Amino acid sequence: MLKVGLVGVGGISGAHIPGWENMKEAELVAICDIRPERMDKYTNYRKYTDFDEMLDKEEIDILDICLPTYLHVDFAVKAMEKGINVICEKPISLKEDDVKRAYDTAEANNVKFMIAQVLRFWPEYEFVKSCYETGKYGKLLSGVMSRLGSMPKWSFDDWMRDVNRSGLVPYDLHIHDLDFVVWAFGKPNNDTMRRAKKENQDYIAGIYDYDDFFIMVESLWCASSDFKFKSGFRFQFEDALLEYNDAKLTIYEAKGETVMFNVSDGKSMGDIGLPSTNAYENEIEYFMNCVLENKPADKVKPQELSDVINILKKF
Ligand SMILES: NC(=O)c1ccc[n+]([C@@H]2O[C@H](COP(=O)([O-])OP(=O)(O)OC[C@H]3O[C@@H](n4cnc5c(N)ncnc54)[C@H](O)[C@@H]3O)[C@@H](O)[C@H]2O)c1
Repeated sequence: MLKVGLVGVGGISGAHIPGWENMKEAELVAICDIRPERMDKYTNYRKYTDFDEMLDKEEIDILDICLPTYLHVDFAVKAMEKGINVICEKPISLKEDDVKRAYDTAEANNVKFMIAQVLRFWPEYEFVKSCYETGKYGKLLSGVMSRLGSMPKWSFDDWMRDVNRSGLVPYDLHIHDLDFVVWAFGKPNNDTMRRAKKENQDYIAGIYDYDDFFIMVESLWCASSDFKFKSGFRFQFEDALLEYNDAKLTIYEAKGETVMFNVSDGKSMGDIGLPSTNAYENEIEYFMNCVLENKPADKVKPQELSDVINILKKF
């Protein structure tokens, strides 16, 4: 049984903690947050407010990092230098140099490291990639991906609204879809960016060009907190249009059939309005199995993370 520690019991931990609880071959034994009240509702784990103390006292095989972005790589490096495998929330960092720093540390200490880019583990998104690769619906012609939410006001010390600590909409929202685009279709040949930003709102759009198709990705922080989070996509293939909205994927075949693709029966988790999916559990299970079977955790590759940061820098 692998032993797991988790640091950062904020918004996204509400998806990771239930994920670990469902694993049969791993046990979450300890959690850590500098705000002790964040851990009040958990009674099954040892609790720490000091990360170094958790590392000293616990013998863990895996650390799950759910900290604010600006702490990801420093905390990951510290744990990996103690021989601990690390799964870490996106984005790896705002700085491309950190990609090498993290992966070099993993290699030097013979441990596994993975950034949890959740769309790579999301069945409906994985299906789009497989359609592109197999040509099931003919050639891909275009795609539109969108991720729209309200300006985040829940984060610890308001770090999310600080450009130097979160990178704002590009590194908070756009990165999800852009990472998928780079994973599924490779690095784009060309990109065009637009941004409409005011103090309390931020909208960005990127068009990513490939030889025979283009993908548009839009991301928004709306000023009003009444605006409910929504994400989805539309991919236009020669023989079908794939549309994902309200956690449902519909395939509109050109020959007349309309098919519902339904594999996600996940529940919405946590307290920050995350969409319904089992993808968070899927990424945890994938990483756990890589550690158990000593397989490379290479579904997310360092070059792809670097490519994404280099594109996001242009916003
Ligand atoms: N994959 C997704 O869908 C998704 C969704 C939301 C957030 N995220 C990512 O998850 C990360 C965390 O985001 P969040 O919304 O949970 O933020 P958050 O501010 O709600 O949570 C971060 C937590 O870390 C704690 N913390 C801060 N400094 C600490 C320290 N030195 N030691 C221990 N604990 C410390 C805070 O007290 C807080 O509880 C971000 O990098 C974000 O990009 C991913």
